[in-house]
Amino acid sequence: MIKIAPRIALFPLTAEVNRQGRLVVGGCDTVELTKQFGTPLYLFDEIGLRRKCAEYKTEFSRRYPDSMVLYAAKAFINKAMALLIKEVGLGLDVVSGGEMGIAHSVDFPLEKAYFHDNNKSAEELSLALEWGVGRIVVDNFHELRMLDKIAEQKGSKPDILLRITPGVNACTHQYTITGNVDSKFGFPLVIGEEAVTTAMSLANLNLIGLHFHIGSLIFEVEPYQQAIEFILNFAAEMRRKHGFELKELDVGGGYAVQYTLDAPAPAVSFFAEAITANIIRQCQRHEMSLPRLIIEPGRSIVARAGVALYTVGAIKEVPGVRYYVSIDGGMADNIRPALYGAKQEAVLANKMRAKEIGKFTIAGKFCESGDILIRDIALPQPTAGDILAVPGCGAYCLPQASNYNASFKVAVVLVNEGKARLIRRRETLEDLMRCDVV
Ligand code: LLP
Repeated sequence: MIKIAPRIALFPLTAEVNRQGRLVVGGCDTVELTKQFGTPLYLFDEIGLRRKCAEYKTEFSRRYPDSMVLYAAKAFINKAMALLIKEVGLGLDVVSGGEMGIAHSVDFPLEKAYFHDNNKSAEELSLALEWGVGRIVVDNFHELRMLDKIAEQKGSKPDILLRITPGVNACTHQYTITGNVDSKFGFPLVIGEEAVTTAMSLANLNLIGLHFHIGSLIFEVEPYQQAIEFILNFAAEMRRKHGFELKELDVGGGYAVQYTLDAPAPAVSFFAEAITANIIRQCQRHEMSLPRLIIEPGRSIVARAGVALYTVGAIKEVPGVRYYVSIDGGMADNIRPALYGAKQEAVLANKMRAKEIGKFTIAGKFCESGDILIRDIALPQPTAGDILAVPGCGAYCLPQASNYNASFKVAVVLVNEGKARLIRRRETLEDLMRCDVV
């Protein structure tokens, strides 16, 4: 008997292979899903999502009771996702009026939302105050002064955190490093003191804590450990010099996930243990009381729950060079390989028990040579009409999707116990031209 591809382990928790040798997720035969909803189709495994949220809550709160998990909406948000996050009781990290608006539209308790971004507009800040967003994470002096004025006009006094750039280098793609000194984000540590004293002097702002976020897809704990040490040293110095009291420490997101068989990622408990133990240690050293701990995972909550399904079309051999297998999606729904050189795996969802016969390069359908999803992956013989399933597509694919080549944004379903619920319909030509004015 042919073994099931080991890649099944990269798919959602509920993934299995049925008697017909097809990939099943959330009890739904993925090939049948593509017949019903068309391709490209993204699916999210509801059980996997809920388990991850629960795992984050448990792993942090049992080590550090005064902690709160925010889901970083930028990884993937729409109304259904915002509702799910509300239901499981996580907070939300938002970075725009748009993300705030989606949350607001489903009555998300916005007091559990933290508003980030390096260039928030006056309109966005006003909206955040009107809607009672819990914390504004202030990034720079321009924003500090602007927010103070807006708060004064509105007669409110928002709780704020200052985003500090700790000056550590996380080992990840240069586009997703954010904690280094030369970063567009946050107050560099060297001017942190001026940021704290300015914030404390502004009558309409209530400075309650500090935030850092060192980057995304980070496999090691060392950069977190270093950043925690630097920030708590800084907080202790600010307490001594200016009476600043650190009530909240937000250590950001960035926790890695496994995209390929050769790059396993640590468990949530590994990050939770290292982060909480270090905060407790550093606070004892400084004789500081423990601040409330905030963490903001995005990718590690949704990545594995999401699967992209495509239909195979043209297959071409460049003799002696390579086989190209073209699919009906690509960089418009998943720009990660083209933008970051991201590596992903895939299977033929209708041939899960078939023998791999050679290497194939998966080409997107968009007009760029760079639109290659996966290079040289071992697969069974592909033929037109096969369904290619790509695991690990839950994070940062759809939020970064475009209408390149006037393509339609894809449909999305949530699967659970054999049922698939459409949570975003496929765009149509009318949608594409909705904002055009002639
Ligand atoms: N908090 C802040 C302030 C962030 O900027 C981010 C991500 C997160 C939390 C969540 O990080 P995560 O846990 O998801 O790694 N488009 C890139 C990733 C960009 C991440 C941006 N900031 C990608 O596809 O790899």
